[in-house]
Amino acid sequence: MSDERPIGVFDSGVGGLTVFREVMRRVPDEKLIYFGDTARLPYGTKSRETIIGFARQIVRFLKTKDVKAIVVACNTASAYALDVIEAEEDIPFIGVVKPGAKVAAATTKNGRIGVIATSGTISSGMYGNYIHSIDPDLKVFGKECPLFVPLVEEGWLHDSVTREVASRYLNELKGEFIDTLILGCTHYPLIRRLIAEEMGEDVKLVNPAYETSMALRELLAERGLEASPREKPPKHEFYVSDAAERFLTFAKAVLSCDISSTGVVDIERY
Ligand code: DGL
Repeated sequence: MSDERPIGVFDSGVGGLTVFREVMRRVPDEKLIYFGDTARLPYGTKSRETIIGFARQIVRFLKTKDVKAIVVACNTASAYALDVIEAEEDIPFIGVVKPGAKVAAATTKNGRIGVIATSGTISSGMYGNYIHSIDPDLKVFGKECPLFVPLVEEGWLHDSVTREVASRYLNELKGEFIDTLILGCTHYPLIRRLIAEEMGEDVKLVNPAYETSMALRELLAERGLEASPREKPPKHEFYVSDAAERFLTFAKAVLSCDISSTGVVDIERY
């Protein structure tokens, strides 16, 4: 049995492309539909109620594309809205927080884990909750880094300003002697090198995207939702709520696949 329907992937902007990239690698026969909510970004400074409302609209839009599953490629939306949309909908969802927590708990040797993320993800406490459900003795140190998202969206991935901001944010975490650091926002893997240089080689960086794509692969197999093998790679579709050209340029740089256009969606209509 196979299921040729596409899989939805969404984020507030370009960050979810770091998850999309892993999903493309892990399930290469699956057609993907990406939505980046560029008109309403950032998510990380907004309330839980607002993020739940945004997530509901995006899910409604993706369902018009007949998706068979949805990857919430945004930590803030996974932390605030995943449980709500999962309970309301009849298709399966995969978020990024739980897979990220799992791999961090398995990675740490000294039991001290740092989490950098948006203000929303940090204040939700979700990483700590999942990590403590695996091992209550692990110590979790959260640090919100709100300026990283606009810097990444601006494309300042290797800029001295971004380095300076990273240095200020991460200095606090260095004093906690963590050996594992979760990149708890899907935008952050795009400045991974800079974060790694700042933290030093003794700190292992965890990007939840890999584990998330593995969890998706398992879910598709378990539920008999896998697409049949294809001869050519599927033609993925990309949608945003604003500034399509800007997104397209970024997406082409992050993904090595053929992207011919990006559609603009009036997401408030959904
Ligand atoms: N990339 C998202 C996350 O993983 C949201 C960033 C934002 O819009 O603040 O949290």
